[in-house]
This record gives sequence, C-alpha cells and structure tokens, in this order.
Amino acid sequence: MAKFLAMTKITKRYTLTAALPYANGPVHIGHLAGVYVPADIFARYLRSRGEEVLFVCGSDEHGVPITIRAKKEGVTPQQIVDKYHSIIKKSFEDFGISFDIYSRTSSKTHAETASEFFKDLYEKKEFVEQVSEQYYDPKAEQFLADRYIVGTCPVCGKDGAYGDQCESCGSSLSPTELKNPKSALSGETPILKKTKHWYLPLDKYEPWLKKWIVDGHKSDWKTNVYGQCKSWIDQGLQPRAVTRDLDWGVPVPLKDAEGKVLYVWFDAPIGYISATKDWAKETGKDWEPYWKSDDTRLLHFIGKDNIVFHCIIFPSMLKQHGDYILPDNVPANEFLNLEGNKISTSKNWAVWLHEYLQDFPDKQDVLRYVLTANAPETKDNDFTWKDFQARNNNELVAILGNFVNRAVVLTHKYFEGKVPSRGELNGFDTEIIGQLVTMPEKIADSLDKYRFREALGYYMDVARLGNKYLADTEPWKLIKEDEARVGTILNIALQVAANLAILGEPFLPQTSLKLFDMLGMDKLNWESAGKDELLEEGKQINKAELLFVKIEDKEVEDQINKLEATKLANLEAAPQKDEITYDDFVKLDIRIGKVISAEKVKKSKKLLKLKVDTGVDTRTILSGIAQYFEPEDVIGKQVTVLINLAPRPMMGEISEGMILMSEDADGSLQLIAPDKEIKPGSVVS
Ligand code: 2FM
Ligand code: ZN
Repeated sequence: MAKFLAMTKITKRYTLTAALPYANGPVHIGHLAGVYVPADIFARYLRSRGEEVLFVCGSDEHGVPITIRAKKEGVTPQQIVDKYHSIIKKSFEDFGISFDIYSRTSSKTHAETASEFFKDLYEKKEFVEQVSEQYYDPKAEQFLADRYIVGTCPVCGKDGAYGDQCESCGSSLSPTELKNPKSALSGETPILKKTKHWYLPLDKYEPWLKKWIVDGHKSDWKTNVYGQCKSWIDQGLQPRAVTRDLDWGVPVPLKDAEGKVLYVWFDAPIGYISATKDWAKETGKDWEPYWKSDDTRLLHFIGKDNIVFHCIIFPSMLKQHGDYILPDNVPANEFLNLEGNKISTSKNWAVWLHEYLQDFPDKQDVLRYVLTANAPETKDNDFTWKDFQARNNNELVAILGNFVNRAVVLTHKYFEGKVPSRGELNGFDTEIIGQLVTMPEKIADSLDKYRFREALGYYMDVARLGNKYLADTEPWKLIKEDEARVGTILNIALQVAANLAILGEPFLPQTSLKLFDMLGMDKLNWESAGKDELLEEGKQINKAELLFVKIEDKEVEDQINKLEATKLANLEAAPQKDEITYDDFVKLDIRIGKVISAEKVKKSKKLLKLKVDTGVDTRTILSGIAQYFEPEDVIGKQVTVLINLAPRPMMGEISEGMILMSEDADGSLQLIAPDKEIKPGSVVS
C-alpha cells in the first residue's frame, strides 16, 4: 500500500460506500456482481492490510417505484420498505457482505441529516427556485411523477410508455412528449398545472466539475466512469430539480413546501452519511472524520446507471455544502445479464440472492467466485448456470480445492499430519518460492486499480503454481526412496496453501477460514503473504476437508428450469381476435375423437396422416404436428376435432377436418383432450 499512497494522498482511513439498493424488491446477482461483491472484496482487502475502513450501506426507501409497488399490492409504502429492507439485510448478512452497518433511509437520523443538508444549501442560496407546469391528476388531486403517466411513445408508437421512458424501444422521454397521456392513478387525462420546485444549478458548477473530473481524474478513474462523466459535462449540465410533489419521502424543510418531498436522488446519497452517523452511535465513535477529514479516502461502489449521481450531482452537493470531502474514486461496473437477457425485477428475470442462499446454503464463495471471475468491469457480461457449474467444477474444485487437498492429504499420509521439515532446496523449490513472493503485490496492484477479475486470476495462479509444483516434483513417487525430499516438497506445498488462505480472504472468505482452520492456523493478514515459512516444522495440521464439491447437472438444470418457468409466465397472450356472433360460433362442429392410426406423410416434415374416429365416421385428417409427435405418441389418444371444415387437398391427400391444438410458449404443440376419456362424437360447445 505504501507505493500506492505515495502516488496519491496520505490516507488515514477509508470510507467505502456501496449503492443503497431500492427497498422495492430483493437483491439479485446483478447487484452483487456490479456493486456488493467488488466493494466487499475491497473492504476485506483493506482490512487485511491493516487499514482503517468503514464500509456502509443501507436500503434506499424513497422514490416513486416504491409508491407504485405499494399501490399495486394494496399496502402502504412503509410496509413495502419494511418487508424488503429485512429481506435484503438478511440476505447480505447470510451471504457474508461485511458492511459495518446496513442502515435505511426511512430512519429518523436520515430524515434529520437530509433535511439539514437541504437547509444548509438553501440558506447558502445555492438553489434556484422555479415554477413550471407539470402534469396533475384532477381526480386524484395530485401531481404525477413521471412513472405515473402512461401514454403512446412518440418514438415507436407503442402504448404503455411511461413519462420518463418507453420500455418497448428504450427511448428516454419527458412526460409532455407522450401522446395521449393518462394518469396511472385514475386513468384520467392529466392537466398541466403550475408548481414550484428547487433546483441545483449544475450549470454553475461546470467549471470546477470539469477541472476536478476531466482534468483531475482522467488517469485514475475507470474509463467507463470517466467517459460517462466527460460526455455529461461536454453536453452541458442543466439545473436539476431536487424536490418533488409526492407524499412519500423526506419532507422539504421549508414553510411554503407543503406536499413536497426531497427528490430520492437528493436524499439517497446523503443516506451514506446517515448510515455513518448510525454506526458511530452504535460504536461510540465520531462520524465526522469519515466524511470531513482530508486524510480520508472516500470511495463509492456503484453500477453504471448511478454514475451521474455519484460523480456529478452528489459531489456538487458536498462541495457546495463546504464541510465535506469529495470521492477519490467511483469504481462503477457495467451490467450483468442473465442467460442472455437483461436482469429485470419486474419481469422476475433474476437469480435472487435470498433464493440462491436457500438452494445453495453453503456456497456463498462459489457465487462470489463466479461473479468476480466474470465481473462486468469493462463491459456488460452474461451469467449462465452452465458457466457457474463449469467454474465451480473446473476451477474451484479442480484447481484450488485439488491442490489444497493433495497437500493436506499427503502430509497426513506420510507425516501423520505434522508439517515436515525442509531440507536442501532444488530448482523447483526455489522457483515456486520465488514466484510466491511476487504474488501478493501482483494481486494488490490489480485490486488497487479495481481490477477484481484480474486479481482473482492471479490468486488462482497461486493454486496453479501449487499444482504444477506437485506435478513436477511427484512426491508420491519418491516416498519410498527419499522421504526427506518428500518432506521438503510437502512443507513448501503447505506454505503455498497458507498463502492461499491469506490471499483468498477478500475473495473467498468462507474458504479462507476453512483453510486456516485446516492448517491449524490463526488468521493472518496480508503482510504475512508471500512468505514461505508461515507453518512451523512439526506443527500438527487438521484433517483434509473438501473446500469445494462438484455441482451436478441436476442442480443447474433445476435452476434453468426455474428460469424457463419465468419465461413462460412472462409471455403475453396473443391479442383477442375480432368479435364474432353466437351464430358464427354455432356453425363450428367440434367433437371429441380418437386417433385410430397415424403415419408420417412422405416428403413432408410437418404432416402426420391420422385416421380419426369422430363418432360420426372414421376419416383421414392431415395434421401439422410431425415435428412434435411421433405417430406412436398419438395413436389411441383422444383429440378435439373440427369436423365440418371443408375437405382440403394436402400433399396429394385429402384432409377431412382439423385437429385442434394449443401452442405452448416455446412453440411446441399440445393436443387438447378431455380430462377423462369420453365417447367419440361428444360435442364440444
Ligand atoms: O439505483 C439504485 O438502486 C439506487 N437505489 C441507488 C442509490 S445509491 C445512493 F445514492 F444511495
Ligand atoms: Zn417507444
């Protein structure tokens, strides 16, 4: 760390923040990969280096999505946030994210902190007051948040677009652009009505923002983060309203602001400060140095959709307030997709953390590993269950677990579990010891640059080195002729295993603990890593325990099936056809029939030729089901038949009716049959 500090400022402590998740749904793997796993790796890494770290998070409990969800479920917003806050908090705990505090923005501390912050800027005359016309629902007697206005998208013409975005074509919209706008509250056409709000004049801050970010952070911020900020600044910043007409949020602390609350993106980042205050209260510490002292490094871990708020808006608020430090870095990640599709809370297209923990109760580290190895650091990435299985089986089991297991098992087999003594070293030994000493810095270098995938790759290289060393030295072949040499080899292998325990703590904390335990060691910190004499000769180690177990096909198939079921549930039914009269309907003569025989039709991939007992007669019907059914699948089955359809020639045959089918979401066909067998010829009406 010394080298790193020399390049920047003197750092006495770190304040790490992880984006506050909205309490309108549980946390999923996209959140974990983008924010919480990298933030937790970094927090653990710094602690292992002996740094003073405060790692804060909490639930973001305001904002319109929460009020919408409450309305939909017929409960209050407070009930929604209470429910999800506890689910999220518990799942983070069970997963082992090492927050020093997990707070919430509906707390009293937060309301006070956010109000004071607003009042401070107000008194400094930072805000611009502006009256504008906004949509108002006269029936519901309230102004409408953008999400509460639906209409036709002016870009793609689809209905159901929201006042801020069309989800069909992805266009960003403003409410007045929507055609035929309607209030989602009452269905009424909204009217435009004047309302006063307070704006943060970002345009005024452009010069210092430019200096601070564009000139000051070009080399140390990630390119995706820097690029997004630069493009915002280049396009010219506009004043941003920091208040809303809404009844859920922190009330605007002014006399003439009834019915108005702070905009969720004004109060949410202040939530980091409130969380710090809550933590300080709990631990008897002082919160202020973590936010106000120049020797504190402030780092915000977020996803890419939060960049503008953490790099431009919140820093502007902190700077104009004047008492606060600014973030040193904002290591934002891109997005993780799931099996090729965007993760979506509303479509339930996600792997939910609390469900993962139910299905894989002791595999926290496997998920941490997969999400880090495949982290969306520089571009969006895809999570697949097959990859999850492959990384577990081919990397964690076959590389890391296998090395540790061999070293420990052989030590028990040949030396009764006592660390053997080391004799003269040969080329293989000096080679691995020489490599080992370089690894902690290599890993640290990557972590200092927020390259978590790369760091994890180097970590796994340590295990790879261990495997190669055992393969090169083949202790199992030498044991009869040269026990002392085998002792040297296993001593070194065990030292490598001890290094894996130390270096693995940030990435795989459960595994690291197990490994320390297996080696009979107390937990060691980063400063001990790279050393080759961590385990004393003669020390008794514990029995080998598998660090990882193979994940079977069935386990991932179950997960894939769960997603398939979601896909089906999400499919929209085809729109209703034009209306018909009862007379139209009764013209159809539909009967239950029974398939007597079935055969493929030559030269046709699609058709089966069926003989069907319709109760009226036995007739030939050609049906386009050959891709889904073999002839023997349908023989003897009851089917539903339209019998008065005019005969049609098909592939040189005449078809005298139509078998009714239903098409499943994946395009496969299902026969429609009665619950229990009934007499052929029974009328369907
Ligand atoms: O995007 C989100 O999920 C927001 N709830 C993140 C807020 S981060 C911070 F500012 F609180
Ligand atoms: Zn559209």
